[in-house]
Amino acid sequence: MRLSTFKKLVCVGIVIFVVGVSGAATTVTSEPGAANRLVVRADQGRYTIAPEIYGHFAEHLGRCVYEGFWVGPDSAIPNVRGIRTDVVEALRKLDIPVLRWPGGCFADEYHWTDGIGPRDQRPEMVNTHWGMVTETNAFGTHEFLDLCEMLGCEAYIAGNVGSGTIEEMQDWVEYMTFAGSSEMADLRRKNGRDEPWRVKFFGVGNENWGCGGNMTPAHYADLYKTYQTYVRGYSGNPIVKVACGPSSDDYDWLETVLRNAGRYMDAISLHHYVRGSGGWGAGQKGSATDFEEDEWFALMRNTLTIYPLLERSKEIMDRYDRQGRIALFVDEWGTWWNAEPGTNPAFLYQQNTVRDAVSAGIFLNAFNEHCDRVKMGNIAQTNNVLQAMILTKGPQMIVTPTYHVFEMYKVHQGATLLPSDMTCRGCGPDGKQASLVASASRDAAGTIHISICNLDPQSATELVCEIAGGESGRVYGRGQLSGRVLTASRMNAHNTFENPEAVKPAVLEGLSNAGNGRITVPVPARSVVVLAIK
Ligand code: AHR
Repeated sequence: MRLSTFKKLVCVGIVIFVVGVSGAATTVTSEPGAANRLVVRADQGRYTIAPEIYGHFAEHLGRCVYEGFWVGPDSAIPNVRGIRTDVVEALRKLDIPVLRWPGGCFADEYHWTDGIGPRDQRPEMVNTHWGMVTETNAFGTHEFLDLCEMLGCEAYIAGNVGSGTIEEMQDWVEYMTFAGSSEMADLRRKNGRDEPWRVKFFGVGNENWGCGGNMTPAHYADLYKTYQTYVRGYSGNPIVKVACGPSSDDYDWLETVLRNAGRYMDAISLHHYVRGSGGWGAGQKGSATDFEEDEWFALMRNTLTIYPLLERSKEIMDRYDRQGRIALFVDEWGTWWNAEPGTNPAFLYQQNTVRDAVSAGIFLNAFNEHCDRVKMGNIAQTNNVLQAMILTKGPQMIVTPTYHVFEMYKVHQGATLLPSDMTCRGCGPDGKQASLVASASRDAAGTIHISICNLDPQSATELVCEIAGGESGRVYGRGQLSGRVLTASRMNAHNTFENPEAVKPAVLEGLSNAGNGRITVPVPARSVVVLAIK
């Protein structure tokens, strides 16, 4: 029987319950004045943190694909077969495990046959969701899978249910993955690719409750069952089939799709975007860079909703899937601000500050902590769109504070989650939220990594980490003990093309080890810290 253990987040005047990984005893207590203490249970690791939790998402939207990845083979920007070299090199440093494409909303109006064959003969289409701009189809199936091979990552393709046919979806999978002789496989060969590609993940539609067809959950579940039937595992390429899940807390969608079609899926998605105190309407989401402290706290509060959201989603999944067979893929997440002034609002180009970095650290800690069900996360989006890793301006490229969080956290990929109990003082306008959020793991070499976010925009603090339960009385911290920190002097600090290294990781100074497994960690205000402990 799967037992979920409550994480208790106690704040001044309110008590919020957050549930941790099944079987992982985790308590977070936030009390003003209390000492900050994190107890890590080194002997209780049970679940692997799927590398795909650190996944990414690239849509035909604004400058994510075009300019972000694709510049074309004739570009003066250095490229390999049309894909820019600087971006691939930067992303490879993240050990990017999986890339989702071609959307997003774009997926449900994308017809893959338009994006194969000689580029100068590919038909154009209108990208109706993202600015009504002309899509040239220069970047299609071959270019995307070439990109995945350059990145060394798995491919996650989102298929078209909203406006595509079952046959079209079946043909696409056969085209990409069938090794034998067939009309589709032979067409692939004619277009220059002999061997099939490996396509591990296939999404049957995207946001079909909204831009993907405005369906009811029951209607989608019926369509899902039919479409997925024809998503075949050809030639030793078993496909992980992903059903379209809800937006944030639309638990009715989650429950209905699971109830009606759960046995036909390997995973179900969840999308969760966060902002400050503004609305979701045009121009209401607030500025990415120009904000006061109350908007810092608003984002932290909204980001922390990921914990109860995952818990409730898991409870529902446990009801329909007692074996824990179906994975939860948070295949779109991140911050969403007003587009940068002077840019096309439909292109969703936003800057990215230390505030976004701390928010990303919280999300990733939450995914780690729920890695018994959460097997994938795909931040939106890779380049030039929403909470991007990379911003480009013609030939120039910079990386964002969020990029650095992914680079620092990559040590968790494939590691074993270690349950942890946090006691910390409160912060926020009324002390009404935890000031520190952490998660811990042990990698294959035995090194423990702890990632810590300080949600307080003004106050540095100290955290005592106790590593409990080391095997054979082992005391951690006597071997390697090091830390890295990402912070800046201002809460809206960000990297620009003029100053590309304003925010970057540094060595964390001042770690001390009492020699008994207790490590004292200075945690700067508005920071993300990652420790390595042997
Ligand atoms: O990431 C931008 C958009 O957000 C995606 O296209 C859609 O799936 C979601 O609404």
